[in-house]
Amino acid sequence: MSVLITGIGELTTNTEAGGDALVIDGSEIAWVGKAGNAPAADERVDVEGRAVLPGWVDSHTHLVFAGDRTAEFGARMAGKPYTAGGIAVTVNATRAATDEELAAVVRKHIAEALRQGTTFVETKTGYGLNVADEVRSARIAAEHADEVTFLGAHLVPPGEDADTYVELVRGEMLDAVAPLVRWADVFCEKGAFDYDQSKAVLAAAAAKGLGLRVHGNQLGEGPGVRLAVELGAASVDHCTYLSAADIDALASSDTVATLLPACDLSTRQSLPPARALLDAGATVALASNCNPGSSYTSSMAFCVTTAVLQMRMSVEEAVWAATAGGAQALRRTDVGVIRPGARADLHVLDAPSITHLAYRPGVPLTHSVWRRGERAN
Ligand code: NIG
Repeated sequence: MSVLITGIGELTTNTEAGGDALVIDGSEIAWVGKAGNAPAADERVDVEGRAVLPGWVDSHTHLVFAGDRTAEFGARMAGKPYTAGGIAVTVNATRAATDEELAAVVRKHIAEALRQGTTFVETKTGYGLNVADEVRSARIAAEHADEVTFLGAHLVPPGEDADTYVELVRGEMLDAVAPLVRWADVFCEKGAFDYDQSKAVLAAAAAKGLGLRVHGNQLGEGPGVRLAVELGAASVDHCTYLSAADIDALASSDTVATLLPACDLSTRQSLPPARALLDAGATVALASNCNPGSSYTSSMAFCVTTAVLQMRMSVEEAVWAATAGGAQALRRTDVGVIRPGARADLHVLDAPSITHLAYRPGVPLTHSVWRRGERAN
Protein backbone atom coordinates (compact mmCIF):
# COMPACT_ATOMS: atom_id res chain seq x y z
CA MET A 1 0.00 0.00 0.00
CA SER A 2 1.48 3.39 -1.02
CA VAL A 3 0.35 6.88 0.02
CA LEU A 4 1.20 10.17 -1.71
CA ILE A 5 1.23 13.09 0.74
CA THR A 6 0.81 16.46 -0.97
CA GLY A 7 0.20 20.06 0.05
CA ILE A 8 3.18 20.18 2.42
CA GLY A 9 3.69 23.84 3.37
CA GLU A 10 7.21 23.26 4.72
CA LEU A 11 9.06 19.95 4.56
CA THR A 12 11.93 19.31 6.99
CA THR A 13 13.83 16.25 5.76
CA ASN A 14 17.19 16.67 7.55
CA THR A 15 18.79 15.97 4.15
CA GLU A 16 19.73 18.17 1.19
CA ALA A 17 16.53 17.10 -0.60
CA GLY A 18 13.26 18.94 -0.23
CA GLY A 19 9.90 19.41 -1.91
CA ASP A 20 6.22 19.62 -1.14
CA ALA A 21 5.25 15.98 -1.49
CA LEU A 22 6.38 12.51 -0.50
CA VAL A 23 5.39 8.91 -0.99
CA ILE A 24 5.17 6.25 1.73
CA ASP A 25 5.37 2.64 0.54
CA GLY A 26 4.60 0.13 3.27
CA SER A 27 6.66 1.10 6.31
CA GLU A 28 9.23 3.22 4.45
CA ILE A 29 9.57 6.52 2.63
CA ALA A 30 9.74 5.75 -1.09
CA TRP A 31 10.08 9.20 -2.68
CA VAL A 32 10.48 12.92 -1.80
CA GLY A 33 10.13 15.86 -4.22
CA LYS A 34 7.83 18.29 -6.01
CA ALA A 35 4.22 17.16 -6.35
CA GLY A 36 4.31 17.63 -10.13
CA ASN A 37 6.92 14.86 -10.40
CA ALA A 38 5.31 12.46 -7.95
CA PRO A 39 4.96 8.79 -8.88
CA ALA A 40 1.54 7.14 -8.78
CA ALA A 41 0.34 5.88 -5.39
CA ASP A 42 -2.65 3.91 -4.10
CA GLU A 43 -3.90 6.77 -1.93
CA ARG A 44 -3.48 10.53 -1.72
CA VAL A 45 -3.55 12.72 1.41
CA ASP A 46 -3.50 16.52 1.15
CA VAL A 47 -2.07 18.15 4.32
CA GLU A 48 -3.29 21.57 3.18
CA GLY A 49 -0.19 23.68 3.71
CA ARG A 50 0.92 22.18 7.02
CA ALA A 51 4.54 21.61 8.01
CA VAL A 52 5.85 18.03 7.90
CA LEU A 53 8.96 16.86 9.75
CA PRO A 54 10.38 13.51 10.90
CA GLY A 55 8.75 12.08 14.03
CA TRP A 56 10.59 13.00 17.22
CA VAL A 57 13.34 10.55 18.22
CA ASP A 58 13.31 10.45 22.02
CA SER A 59 16.73 8.99 22.80
CA HIS A 60 16.51 9.16 26.62
CA THR A 61 13.61 7.94 28.75
CA HIS A 62 13.16 5.78 31.89
CA LEU A 63 9.70 4.28 31.37
CA VAL A 64 9.86 0.99 33.29
CA PHE A 65 8.74 2.27 36.65
CA ALA A 66 5.92 2.20 39.16
CA GLY A 67 4.78 4.68 41.77
CA ASP A 68 4.64 8.43 41.97
CA ARG A 69 6.97 11.17 43.21
CA THR A 70 4.63 14.14 43.22
CA ALA A 71 5.50 14.91 46.85
CA GLU A 72 9.23 14.97 46.06
CA PHE A 73 8.56 17.32 43.14
CA GLY A 74 6.46 19.58 45.37
CA ALA A 75 9.22 19.70 47.98
CA ARG A 76 11.70 20.63 45.26
CA MET A 77 9.54 23.47 44.06
CA ALA A 78 9.54 24.65 47.69
CA GLY A 79 13.34 24.75 47.68
CA LYS A 80 14.62 21.23 48.46
CA PRO A 81 17.45 20.15 46.12
CA TYR A 82 17.25 17.14 43.77
CA THR A 83 19.55 14.26 44.73
CA ALA A 84 20.23 10.87 43.14
CA GLY A 85 18.81 9.23 46.29
CA GLY A 86 15.21 9.76 45.14
CA ILE A 87 15.71 6.94 42.64
CA ALA A 88 15.41 4.47 45.54
CA VAL A 89 11.74 5.44 46.06
CA THR A 90 10.93 4.36 42.52
CA VAL A 91 13.04 1.21 42.91
CA ASN A 92 10.88 0.09 45.85
CA ALA A 93 7.64 0.73 43.95
CA THR A 94 8.97 -0.94 40.79
CA ARG A 95 10.06 -4.09 42.62
CA ALA A 96 6.61 -4.32 44.20
CA ALA A 97 4.73 -3.98 40.88
CA THR A 98 3.54 -6.88 38.72
CA ASP A 99 4.86 -7.40 35.20
CA GLU A 100 1.49 -6.30 33.79
CA GLU A 101 1.48 -3.11 35.88
CA LEU A 102 4.96 -2.20 34.62
CA ALA A 103 4.08 -3.01 31.01
CA ALA A 104 0.96 -0.83 31.28
CA VAL A 105 3.07 2.14 32.44
CA VAL A 106 5.46 1.72 29.51
CA ARG A 107 2.59 1.40 27.01
CA LYS A 108 0.77 4.42 28.43
CA HIS A 109 3.78 6.72 28.12
CA ILE A 110 4.76 5.50 24.65
CA ALA A 111 1.17 6.07 23.48
CA GLU A 112 1.13 9.52 25.12
CA ALA A 113 4.40 10.40 23.35
CA LEU A 114 3.15 9.08 20.01
CA ARG A 115 0.09 11.35 20.19
CA GLN A 116 2.57 14.26 20.45
CA GLY A 117 4.68 13.20 17.47
CA THR A 118 7.28 10.90 19.05
CA THR A 119 7.69 7.91 16.76
CA PHE A 120 10.90 6.38 18.16
CA VAL A 121 11.65 5.78 21.83
CA GLU A 122 14.68 4.55 23.73
CA THR A 123 14.04 3.40 27.28
CA LYS A 124 16.07 2.00 30.13
CA THR A 125 16.16 -0.41 33.04
CA GLY A 126 17.48 1.10 36.25
CA TYR A 127 14.63 0.88 38.75
CA GLY A 128 15.15 -2.83 39.43
CA LEU A 129 18.72 -2.86 40.74
CA ASN A 130 18.83 -6.61 41.38
CA VAL A 131 19.28 -9.35 38.81
CA ALA A 132 15.66 -10.50 38.62
CA ASP A 133 14.16 -6.99 38.49
CA GLU A 134 16.69 -5.66 35.98
CA VAL A 135 16.03 -8.66 33.71
CA ARG A 136 12.26 -8.20 33.85
CA SER A 137 12.62 -4.45 33.28
CA ALA A 138 14.74 -5.15 30.18
CA ARG A 139 12.26 -7.73 28.93
CA ILE A 140 9.27 -5.40 29.35
CA ALA A 141 11.18 -2.51 27.78
CA ALA A 142 12.18 -4.68 24.79
CA GLU A 143 8.54 -5.65 24.24
CA HIS A 144 7.49 -2.02 23.80
CA ALA A 145 10.35 0.39 23.03
CA ASP A 146 12.47 0.76 19.89
CA GLU A 147 15.81 0.68 21.76
CA VAL A 148 16.67 -0.61 25.23
CA THR A 149 19.51 0.36 27.57
CA PHE A 150 20.76 -1.51 30.65
CA LEU A 151 21.15 0.91 33.57
CA GLY A 152 21.88 -1.44 36.46
CA ALA A 153 24.44 1.20 37.52
CA HIS A 154 21.77 3.80 38.28
CA LEU A 155 22.21 3.88 42.07
CA VAL A 156 23.82 1.65 44.68
CA PRO A 157 20.74 0.17 46.39
CA PRO A 158 20.50 1.66 49.91
CA GLY A 159 22.29 -0.49 52.47
CA GLU A 160 24.46 -2.31 49.91
CA ASP A 161 28.22 -2.02 49.56
CA ALA A 162 29.16 -0.01 46.46
CA ASP A 163 32.06 -2.16 45.26
CA THR A 164 30.13 -5.41 45.79
CA TYR A 165 27.22 -3.92 43.84
CA VAL A 166 29.48 -2.83 40.97
CA GLU A 167 30.80 -6.41 40.74
CA LEU A 168 27.22 -7.71 40.56
CA VAL A 169 26.28 -5.21 37.83
CA ARG A 170 29.32 -5.95 35.65
CA GLY A 171 29.09 -9.70 36.27
CA GLU A 172 25.94 -11.71 36.86
CA MET A 173 23.50 -8.85 36.16
CA LEU A 174 25.16 -7.88 32.87
CA ASP A 175 25.32 -11.54 31.76
CA ALA A 176 21.59 -11.92 32.37
CA VAL A 177 20.47 -8.62 30.80
CA ALA A 178 22.85 -8.34 27.83
CA PRO A 179 20.84 -10.57 25.45
CA LEU A 180 17.83 -8.24 25.85
CA VAL A 181 19.48 -4.85 25.24
CA ARG A 182 21.64 -2.96 22.76
CA TRP A 183 23.12 -0.38 25.16
CA ALA A 184 24.67 -0.05 28.61
CA ASP A 185 24.67 3.15 30.64
CA VAL A 186 25.95 4.37 34.04
CA PHE A 187 24.98 7.31 36.23
CA CYS A 188 28.45 8.79 36.71
CA GLU A 189 27.75 11.45 39.33
CA LYS A 190 28.31 12.31 43.00
CA GLY A 191 25.89 10.17 44.99
CA ALA A 192 25.78 7.49 42.27
CA PHE A 193 28.95 5.98 40.65
CA ASP A 194 32.44 7.48 40.46
CA TYR A 195 34.79 7.43 37.45
CA ASP A 196 36.43 4.07 38.29
CA GLN A 197 33.19 2.31 39.12
CA SER A 198 31.51 3.69 35.99
CA LYS A 199 34.45 2.69 33.82
CA ALA A 200 34.48 -0.84 35.23
CA VAL A 201 30.79 -1.31 34.35
CA LEU A 202 31.10 0.19 30.87
CA ALA A 203 34.24 -1.79 30.02
CA ALA A 204 32.50 -5.04 30.94
CA ALA A 205 29.48 -4.05 28.83
CA ALA A 206 31.67 -3.16 25.85
CA ALA A 207 33.39 -6.54 26.15
CA LYS A 208 29.91 -8.11 25.79
CA GLY A 209 29.33 -6.14 22.59
CA LEU A 210 26.97 -3.50 24.00
CA GLY A 211 27.08 0.12 22.86
CA LEU A 212 27.81 2.67 25.57
CA ARG A 213 25.98 5.68 26.96
CA VAL A 214 26.67 7.76 30.07
CA HIS A 215 24.55 9.92 32.39
CA GLY A 216 27.03 12.63 33.26
CA ASN A 217 27.54 16.21 34.44
CA GLN A 218 23.92 16.48 35.62
CA LEU A 219 24.31 17.92 39.12
CA GLY A 220 27.76 19.46 38.82
CA GLU A 221 30.96 19.27 36.82
CA GLY A 222 32.47 15.79 37.00
CA PRO A 223 34.16 13.01 35.06
CA GLY A 224 31.12 11.77 33.06
CA VAL A 225 31.86 13.57 29.80
CA ARG A 226 35.57 12.69 29.94
CA LEU A 227 34.71 9.02 30.50
CA ALA A 228 32.13 8.94 27.70
CA VAL A 229 34.54 10.45 25.19
CA GLU A 230 37.41 8.23 26.34
CA LEU A 231 35.33 5.07 25.84
CA GLY A 232 33.76 6.23 22.56
CA ALA A 233 30.24 6.25 24.01
CA ALA A 234 27.49 7.07 21.52
CA SER A 235 26.08 9.70 23.84
CA VAL A 236 26.61 11.48 27.14
CA ASP A 237 23.32 12.66 28.54
CA HIS A 238 22.48 15.70 30.70
CA CYS A 239 25.68 17.79 30.14
CA THR A 240 24.24 20.50 32.36
CA TYR A 241 27.53 21.53 33.93
CA LEU A 242 30.43 21.46 31.46
CA SER A 243 33.99 22.77 31.72
CA ALA A 244 35.73 24.25 28.69
CA ALA A 245 37.71 20.99 28.46
CA ASP A 246 34.46 18.97 28.38
CA ILE A 247 33.15 21.09 25.52
CA ASP A 248 36.41 20.71 23.58
CA ALA A 249 36.43 16.95 24.18
CA LEU A 250 32.85 16.61 22.91
CA ALA A 251 33.56 18.80 19.88
CA SER A 252 36.43 16.59 18.77
CA SER A 253 34.61 13.29 19.35
CA ASP A 254 31.74 11.23 17.91
CA THR A 255 29.97 11.30 21.26
CA VAL A 256 26.66 13.16 21.06
CA ALA A 257 25.85 15.63 23.85
CA THR A 258 22.23 14.81 24.70
CA LEU A 259 20.57 17.70 26.51
CA LEU A 260 17.52 17.16 28.73
CA PRO A 261 16.10 20.63 29.42
CA ALA A 262 12.83 19.44 30.94
CA CYS A 263 14.89 17.68 33.59
CA ASP A 264 16.97 20.76 34.33
CA LEU A 265 13.82 22.84 34.75
CA SER A 266 12.11 20.17 36.90
CA THR A 267 15.13 19.91 39.18
CA ARG A 268 15.78 23.66 39.26
CA GLN A 269 19.24 23.34 37.74
CA SER A 270 20.77 25.66 35.15
CA LEU A 271 19.99 24.94 31.51
CA PRO A 272 22.84 23.29 29.60
CA PRO A 273 25.28 25.36 27.51
CA ALA A 274 23.81 24.40 24.14
CA ARG A 275 25.16 27.44 22.30
CA ALA A 276 28.74 26.84 23.47
CA LEU A 277 28.49 23.17 22.43
CA LEU A 278 27.13 24.00 18.98
CA ASP A 279 29.55 26.84 18.40
CA ALA A 280 32.45 24.53 19.31
CA GLY A 281 31.21 21.97 16.77
CA ALA A 282 29.75 19.31 19.09
CA THR A 283 26.72 17.27 18.00
CA VAL A 284 23.70 18.01 20.18
CA ALA A 285 20.57 15.93 20.71
CA LEU A 286 17.47 16.84 22.72
CA ALA A 287 15.46 14.24 24.65
CA SER A 288 12.66 14.22 27.22
CA ASN A 289 14.26 12.09 29.99
CA CYS A 290 10.70 11.05 30.83
CA ASN A 291 10.85 9.51 34.34
CA PRO A 292 8.83 9.94 37.54
CA GLY A 293 11.61 11.67 39.48
CA SER A 294 13.55 14.32 37.64
CA SER A 295 11.54 14.96 34.45
CA TYR A 296 7.99 13.72 34.25
CA THR A 297 7.15 14.76 30.70
CA SER A 298 6.96 12.94 27.40
CA SER A 299 6.77 16.21 25.46
CA MET A 300 9.59 16.60 22.95
CA ALA A 301 7.90 19.78 21.72
CA PHE A 302 8.38 21.28 25.20
CA CYS A 303 12.10 20.42 25.00
CA VAL A 304 12.39 22.00 21.55
CA THR A 305 10.53 25.13 22.64
CA THR A 306 12.72 25.47 25.74
CA ALA A 307 15.89 24.94 23.70
CA VAL A 308 14.89 27.79 21.39
CA LEU A 309 13.46 30.24 23.92
CA GLN A 310 15.93 29.67 26.74
CA MET A 311 19.04 27.93 25.38
CA ARG A 312 19.66 30.09 22.33
CA MET A 313 19.30 27.27 19.82
CA SER A 314 17.68 28.19 16.51
CA VAL A 315 14.41 26.44 15.67
CA GLU A 316 16.23 24.48 12.95
CA GLU A 317 18.98 23.39 15.36
CA ALA A 318 16.46 22.34 18.00
CA VAL A 319 14.28 20.38 15.58
CA TRP A 320 17.37 18.68 14.13
CA ALA A 321 18.56 17.81 17.65
CA ALA A 322 15.17 16.26 18.54
CA THR A 323 15.02 14.17 15.35
CA ALA A 324 18.33 13.48 13.54
CA GLY A 325 20.33 14.30 16.69
CA GLY A 326 18.42 11.69 18.69
CA ALA A 327 18.99 9.19 15.88
CA GLN A 328 22.72 9.93 15.94
CA ALA A 329 22.79 9.49 19.72
CA LEU A 330 21.41 6.01 19.07
CA ARG A 331 23.64 5.46 16.03
CA ARG A 332 20.62 5.01 13.74
CA THR A 333 20.40 6.20 10.15
CA ASP A 334 16.87 4.97 9.44
CA VAL A 335 14.97 7.42 11.67
CA GLY A 336 15.05 11.17 12.30
CA VAL A 337 15.24 11.79 8.58
CA ILE A 338 12.84 11.83 5.62
CA ARG A 339 14.51 10.16 2.65
CA PRO A 340 13.84 7.10 0.48
CA GLY A 341 14.53 3.95 2.51
CA ALA A 342 14.06 5.62 5.92
CA ARG A 343 11.27 4.56 8.27
CA ALA A 344 8.06 6.36 7.34
CA ASP A 345 7.81 8.21 10.67
CA LEU A 346 6.19 11.60 10.04
CA HIS A 347 4.92 14.42 12.21
CA VAL A 348 2.42 16.81 10.63
CA LEU A 349 2.07 20.12 12.50
CA ASP A 350 -1.12 22.12 12.60
CA ALA A 351 1.04 25.07 11.54
CA PRO A 352 2.71 26.22 8.35
CA SER A 353 6.29 25.96 9.66
CA ILE A 354 8.45 24.50 12.42
CA THR A 355 9.02 28.06 13.68
CA HIS A 356 5.55 27.82 15.25
CA LEU A 357 6.94 25.29 17.76
CA ALA A 358 8.67 28.20 19.49
CA TYR A 359 6.46 31.04 18.26
CA ARG A 360 3.40 29.39 19.88
CA PRO A 361 4.89 27.91 23.07
CA GLY A 362 2.72 25.40 24.90
CA VAL A 363 0.17 25.08 22.11
CA PRO A 364 -0.39 21.43 21.12
CA LEU A 365 0.57 21.64 17.44
CA THR A 366 0.55 17.97 16.47
CA HIS A 367 -2.00 17.50 13.68
CA SER A 368 -1.23 13.90 12.70
CA VAL A 369 1.46 11.27 13.05
CA TRP A 370 2.58 8.37 10.87
CA ARG A 371 4.70 5.61 12.39
CA ARG A 372 6.25 2.92 10.20
CA GLY A 373 3.92 4.07 7.42
CA GLU A 374 0.75 3.68 9.52
CA ARG A 375 -1.41 6.65 10.43
CA ALA A 376 -1.14 6.70 14.24
CA ASN A 377 -3.56 9.57 14.96
O1 NIG B 1 18.20 10.88 34.06
N1 NIG B 1 20.08 10.90 36.48
C1 NIG B 1 19.69 9.81 36.74
N2 NIG B 1 18.54 9.23 36.38
C2 NIG B 1 17.35 9.92 36.03
C3 NIG B 1 16.59 10.32 37.22
C4 NIG B 1 15.89 9.25 37.83
C5 NIG B 1 15.05 9.58 39.01
O2 NIG B 1 15.22 10.58 39.73
O3 NIG B 1 14.20 8.74 39.23
C6 NIG B 1 17.68 11.12 35.16
O4 NIG B 1 17.43 12.25 35.54
